[in-house]
Amino acid sequence: MRNILYDFRSRLCPVFGIFLLAFIWVLPGHQTFGLTIQSTESLQQESGESAPSSPDQSVWLDIDGKPLPFQTDQEIRELLQTARVVSMQKIPVGVTHPKKVLLEKDGIRMHATFRDVKINKRRIKLASGKVKFNFRDDCIFECAAYVLAQLLGLDNVPPVVERKIKGKKGTLQAWVENSMLETERQKNKVEAPNKWRWSMQYQVMRLFDNLIYNEDRNQGNILIGLSDWKLWMIDHTRSFRTYDDLFNPTTIRFVERNSWEKLQELDQKTLEVRLKPFLRSREIKAILKRRDKLVEHVQTMIDKRGEGKVLFTLY
Ligand SMILES: Nc1ncnc2c1ncn2[C@@H]1O[C@H](COP(=O)(O)OP(=O)(O)OP(=O)(O)O)[C@@H](O)[C@H]1O
Ligand SMILES: [Mg+2]
Repeated sequence: MRNILYDFRSRLCPVFGIFLLAFIWVLPGHQTFGLTIQSTESLQQESGESAPSSPDQSVWLDIDGKPLPFQTDQEIRELLQTARVVSMQKIPVGVTHPKKVLLEKDGIRMHATFRDVKINKRRIKLASGKVKFNFRDDCIFECAAYVLAQLLGLDNVPPVVERKIKGKKGTLQAWVENSMLETERQKNKVEAPNKWRWSMQYQVMRLFDNLIYNEDRNQGNILIGLSDWKLWMIDHTRSFRTYDDLFNPTTIRFVERNSWEKLQELDQKTLEVRLKPFLRSREIKAILKRRDKLVEHVQTMIDKRGEGKVLFTLY
C-alpha cells in the first residue's frame, strides 16, 4: 500500500499537475498569457470589430500632454541625446531605481526614463529567492531591445539613447505620457475596447520576449497608451540571456504577419552590425539560435492549423 501511495505521489502527481497547469493556461480570458485558444477570427468577432486593427494614434507628448512638434523616432532620439537635464526624480516602484528626468530644449519640455543599472555576476540570488548564473542586469539592453524591435518592424519599444547624466553612464528613454500600467488595468479590471487587438498585441510581445529571452515581463513592464490602447514594452534590462532555448514558446499561439517575415529574414551580419555596440558576441549568437527555434515553432503551428489560423495583421 505504501508503495502504491509512493508511486502515486512521485509519478502520477506530477502528471496530474501538468494537466492542471495546461488546463489553467487555456482557460478563456486568462490574463497571464493574454490570450485564449480561440482562432484569430473568433476573437475578432467577439470584439465586435470587422477591421483587424484600429489606426495607431499614438504621438509623443510634452509634459503638459500636448503633442511634440515632431514625431519621428529619430527626432525624439535627437532630443533625448541633446536636451538639457532640468531635474531628476526617483520613480517609486521597481528594483533597479530608474529616474524620471525632465528635459528641456528650445522651449520644448519632455519626460524620459534614465536607467544606469549595470550588474554582472557569475552567480546571484535575486530578491525573489531565485538563484541565477551568468546574470547580467544592464541598462544597455534597452538599446539592444529597441534596435531588435525595429528590425522586426515593431514600434512599441520607446525610443532610447545612451547618455551620461551626472557622471553616470546609462540610457535615456522617451516617457510614455497618458498611459497606465498593465498592473493597474488588471487590478481595476479594465477591459480593452478591442479585445482582439489587445490579445494580439500580447502575442507580439510573447514572440519578442522569447527572442530576447526576457523572463522579466511582469505587469509593471507593460504600459498601455490611453488614447489608442497601444501596448508599450518597457524594461528590458534583464533580457538577452545566452540560453539557446526559448523560455516559454507555448505562450505563442498567433503571430503577426509582418514580424514573422522579418523574423525569418534576420541574418547574422545585420544583427552583428546593429547590435555589436550593445551586446556581446555570445548574446548575439544566442538570439540567432532562438530565432531558428522560434521559426520552427511557428512553422509547426502553421503546418498544423493553417496560415489563416496562425498569422494575423496588426500593423
Ligand atoms: N518609458 C516610460 N514611460 C512611462 N513610464 C515608465 C517608463 N519607463 C519606466 N516607467 C515607469 O517606471 C516604472 C519602473 O521602471 P522599470 O520597470 O524600468 O524599473 P525596474 O526597477 O527595472 O522595475 P522592475 O521592478 O520591473 O525590475 C515602470 O513600472 C513604469 O511605471
Ligand atoms: Mg520594471
